[in-house]
Amino acid sequence: MPGYSNIVILTGAGLSAESGVPTFRDKGGIWAKYDYRDVATPEGFAKNPVLVHEFYNMRRRAHEGIKPNAAHLALARLEQTYPGEVTVVTQNVDALHEQAGSHNLIHMHGEIFAALCDSCRARRPWTADLSLDLACPTCGHKGGMRPDVVWFGEMPYHMTRIAKLLATADLFISIGTSGNVYPAAGFVAEAAANGARTVELNLEPSDGVTLFDEAIHGPATQVVPAFVERLLNEN
Ligand code: APR
Repeated sequence: MPGYSNIVILTGAGLSAESGVPTFRDKGGIWAKYDYRDVATPEGFAKNPVLVHEFYNMRRRAHEGIKPNAAHLALARLEQTYPGEVTVVTQNVDALHEQAGSHNLIHMHGEIFAALCDSCRARRPWTADLSLDLACPTCGHKGGMRPDVVWFGEMPYHMTRIAKLLATADLFISIGTSGNVYPAAGFVAEAAANGARTVELNLEPSDGVTLFDEAIHGPATQVVPAFVERLLNEN
């Protein structure tokens, strides 16, 4: 495999599954227990903000004790040792990429450990519970503090930067994502149209598997370190 100058890696919930973070659409996943319209849309927040705060407070607390797994660590090592540019675009809201040592990292769906004011749009790191009783430290508005997580129907973050990355990527790798949710599910076609080689690393074939030049299936903690090793040895 030739050396690459710009590797773009899209990650999804499957990357964090072996760290104990439930995925969304697998059997017993989050959307099997909650209706996303109630807890992950602006309409749901307007209708029942207490339920939405409970949902994210529970997830935030569950994220406190988790640790990066071998796949996160392999991606951080790739960024640190590969001669070309390596950028991770994650759909995940956990902080496992950061804890593993990735720096070139874009959270396109926001972060569970950040809060956003629905009124002045100020955002800040946040590890405690959120509730309606809180006033925004920036504008003082009460009741509008929400998780800084992109909900269905909202525009993901950093899309201009991501488009530029996909325009110049020569290798696009998709890891642990079902290829169900746009715009992320469209990134493989965008990268391929710009001449990138495309690879899927996933537990099982995703909905977009036929769009990839290559697909390697298995648990992320096995297939990701092996693929990183292959990239480093063949460069
Ligand atoms: N290793 C690798 N892949 C795995 C593993 C594992 N151990 N476990 C599960 N997977 C794969 C599944 O096969 C599936 O294809 O991870 C994928 C998880 O898919 P989803 O649960 O749909 O998660 P994701 O693709 O990240 O969802 C995208 O949808 O709900 C919204 O905003 C939310 O960011 C999320 C977005």
